[in-house]
Amino acid sequence: MTSEYFPPTATRLPFLERAANTTRLHSGEPLLSPRIVLSLGNLPRKREITIDSNWPMSPSKVNPENPPWPVFRGYHEFSFAHATMGHRLPTILGKGIDDVIRTLNDQSGEDEIIDLVACIERMNILMAELSENATLRPIVDDDEADVTLWNKEIAKHFQGRTFMSAPWVFAEAYKYRRLRECFSVSKYWKDYDVFFRQKCDTFSRSQEAVFELSMRFAEVNQLPAEMDEQIAVEKERLMFHELTQICLWGNSTDLSLLIDMTEEQIKSLQSTGGDHLASTEKNILGNDLPQLWDTVKALKAAGGGRIDFVLDNAGFELYCDFVYADFLIQSGFAKEVRFHGKRYPWFVSDVTRKDWNWLLNTMVYGQLFDKVSDQERRSLKKLGMRWKEYEKQGKWIYEQHPFWCSGWTFWELHSEAPDLFLHLSRSDLVFFKGDLNHRKLTYDCAAPASTPFEKAIGPMASKDGAPKVCSLRTIKSDVVVGLGEGGDGTAKRLDKEEPGWKISGKYAVVLLSPGKPGKIVDLKS
Ligand code: F6P
Ligand code: MG
Repeated sequence: MTSEYFPPTATRLPFLERAANTTRLHSGEPLLSPRIVLSLGNLPRKREITIDSNWPMSPSKVNPENPPWPVFRGYHEFSFAHATMGHRLPTILGKGIDDVIRTLNDQSGEDEIIDLVACIERMNILMAELSENATLRPIVDDDEADVTLWNKEIAKHFQGRTFMSAPWVFAEAYKYRRLRECFSVSKYWKDYDVFFRQKCDTFSRSQEAVFELSMRFAEVNQLPAEMDEQIAVEKERLMFHELTQICLWGNSTDLSLLIDMTEEQIKSLQSTGGDHLASTEKNILGNDLPQLWDTVKALKAAGGGRIDFVLDNAGFELYCDFVYADFLIQSGFAKEVRFHGKRYPWFVSDVTRKDWNWLLNTMVYGQLFDKVSDQERRSLKKLGMRWKEYEKQGKWIYEQHPFWCSGWTFWELHSEAPDLFLHLSRSDLVFFKGDLNHRKLTYDCAAPASTPFEKAIGPMASKDGAPKVCSLRTIKSDVVVGLGEGGDGTAKRLDKEEPGWKISGKYAVVLLSPGKPGKIVDLKS
């Protein structure tokens, strides 16, 4: 596995001390001197956020400064936000710098080299700002389509906020936008992806699961025409059930969390065997699979619908999404599948257009896997060719709206990107894949685990025109909702019995909101 990266001691230690001090003082701002250590033994001990009767905020009052429930922030030491902002982000950025240096060492042209060195310098500045818990500055106008989205939110809601004091989901997203800026202002390296090598690498290391699926799905799956109708429907239901789970668990191995994982651990997370799926279904803590089945069955009865995927990770997860989307097309549940990716490298492993093309082309033309049989090789190629054909026929469509790489949560999608809301409202079912999408759907808040999904996603369920939303998410961060009436008890028990259950990727949710069909009015309200 990849090695850990620590920023140089000189920049790292002050940050850790400042972060700790920041928390002790219950203030978001950094202290001036990093060496002051206060003795605060008489203050109350650090506690988790308690949710009293003032929560949730009424949806009309919600904005980034007034989240519906208490929001996670980097200075919350009890949360994954703290570990991410203090340790994981510098590690990820450090590995990014290593990647650029590797590219730099392969260059021969002076202009390109000078330009790339400047990118590294900007990355170093970002590392220092992260380390020093700097105030979040506006994004430079680099001609990206999202500059206004970013700067409006900073100016309106987060002036003077720091990496640790801004809401975690915003601060984390901001770091990836700043990373983008390191390259977007360059001349030769605008589209450089510091994570591209890692993304390709993880797919090539997923060999076992990749061929397990390609050998099953290369041939089009058709149920015999003479099969009794009821039996055929039941067979289809069972397949839908298992494939939804494959698509779900494909999310458990995102690169940002693989820093410390062995190859064996990755393999076990990617296991796609029937027994394994049955045993992991009990780990789906909020499970709307039956309702999801009713939804797609109705679509088929109506001649097939439009299904959207707001994608998460490239490589193996995207491959699982494709297997699932292929099944949805073949079985007549969907006539058209729209995939929504990112415009630039995002949260390490998220899908960009380049990742999408890479996967399809490597399946058809690549020589990534050496110890495989001819049959296996052919099965992968056949799948890849079929999927490319879907694209040519317009059955599969890749899109990348700027909003997906912004700091806004999806509670604000209808107001900050009304065109996108309108577009999604025309879909019959929108899957949101993964942890980050789930955090943005739910405002990344400490809502009680029993909170109904529909309530937790606010306007994405309640606004006129809201589509049916399905979150397929392995739980990899603090927010957990939709666990049903006994959900608070379940969460409490797991807190006690399995500390770390919220970040292990061992548990998951499949949550569906019913949508709110109707005339879309008043998009700006
Ligand atoms: O850094 C934390 C995080 O943002 C969490 O949401 C999750 O652990 C990971 O990064 C991204 O996961 P995913 O790829 O499933 O959105
Ligand atoms: Mg991701």
